[in-house]
Amino acid sequence: MRSADLFRARFGGAPDGVWLAPGRANLMGEHTDYNDGYVLPFALGQNIAAAAARRTGRRLALCSRQQPTAAVEIALDGLAPGQVTGWAAYPAGVAWELEQAGYQVPGARIAIDSDVPAGAGLSSSAALECATALALTELAGLAVSRPELAAIARRAENEFVGVPSGIMDQSASLLCQPGHALLLDCRSLESSQVPFDPAAAGAGLLLINTRAKHDLSDGEYGRRRAECEEAARRLGIPSLRSLTNLADVDRLTDPVLRRRARHVVADNQRVLDVVGLLSSPSAAVADTYHDIGRLLTQAHLSLRDDFEVSWPEADATVEAALAAGAFGARMIGGGFGGSVLALVPAAFGGPVRDAVTGAFAQRSWTAPEFLDAAPSASAHRVALQLVRLRPTGGSSAGA
Ligand code: GLA
Repeated sequence: MRSADLFRARFGGAPDGVWLAPGRANLMGEHTDYNDGYVLPFALGQNIAAAAARRTGRRLALCSRQQPTAAVEIALDGLAPGQVTGWAAYPAGVAWELEQAGYQVPGARIAIDSDVPAGAGLSSSAALECATALALTELAGLAVSRPELAAIARRAENEFVGVPSGIMDQSASLLCQPGHALLLDCRSLESSQVPFDPAAAGAGLLLINTRAKHDLSDGEYGRRRAECEEAARRLGIPSLRSLTNLADVDRLTDPVLRRRARHVVADNQRVLDVVGLLSSPSAAVADTYHDIGRLLTQAHLSLRDDFEVSWPEADATVEAALAAGAFGARMIGGGFGGSVLALVPAAFGGPVRDAVTGAFAQRSWTAPEFLDAAPSASAHRVALQLVRLRPTGGSSAGA
């Protein structure tokens, strides 16, 4: 069922519009966003769809195809953090933060559908926030810039839901362009589009959902964040972004803090290195992807050994993908579960899938899920008459 059909079935009548917001993968720069560093995400073709219509009165009604409960009713007046829990806290938080920022949110009915796998480290939560934010502001005719909307959606997650995430995921969902990765400087919030079209160069991007569920609210993510802040405090700098020389990390006497800082400094540099490679590709384009792949694998080892956020299924996936001919592979997102991104020569997509599937079967793990990842469009409104039901296993949301 599409979100527009769900809307009709649950609320009666047609929605005023349907808004899509994509999940994201991150090419490079992990756990760098909340350290004021660089990130290089791209939008996925998988989206959250929000079919929405204005209603009279200051209430939101929310339902989701992935949450087969009755619609959740939320009063906008008197809304405060802690009042709404579970999945509805994300859209409710967006409404609350919009009002905190001085925007009057209209009463609305919203039906949600998704083809972004939840708990796979692909930012389904940020996509839900961004789809809601765009729907509510466009329904109300409010002019809010995309960077401001990303900041509002992030605050919804930090302050209303209570997850201390950075700005990468919401920025990716709202700012990315097809065929590009987004270089975001998380200190200045300046961004630029970096051409990134592996398919045109005979390479492929494979996302492998390891099915180990990832949850940012379990405490480990917040602990890493606190460790980075402590490292910066001990070094007497505002954030780890201020370190550009790996040798400076050695001034930290605590071995754990030293490892955390080393990852952040090295990953910031890797973002700039990947941008350099993409911006002036070598004449033999395969060499460019070979070099990017090497950086991906280095980043994985850094996340595994220095930042200690990898998990067994991710390590086995990276190992099997490399053995089967991938240019490189790494875990993406916050860690402790979720997905791996592999950069592969186009002809090796099949062998890499087979090798990873085999590695999982050998260990009696639940079979992984494979998704093709193509750098796609940011959040946008879709014309209702163009909305089509996506066949199962396809790559754009049933809007
Ligand atoms: C999660 C957070 C992001 C970012 C990544 C790690 O996806 O939501 O802000 O910190 O983890 O890079």
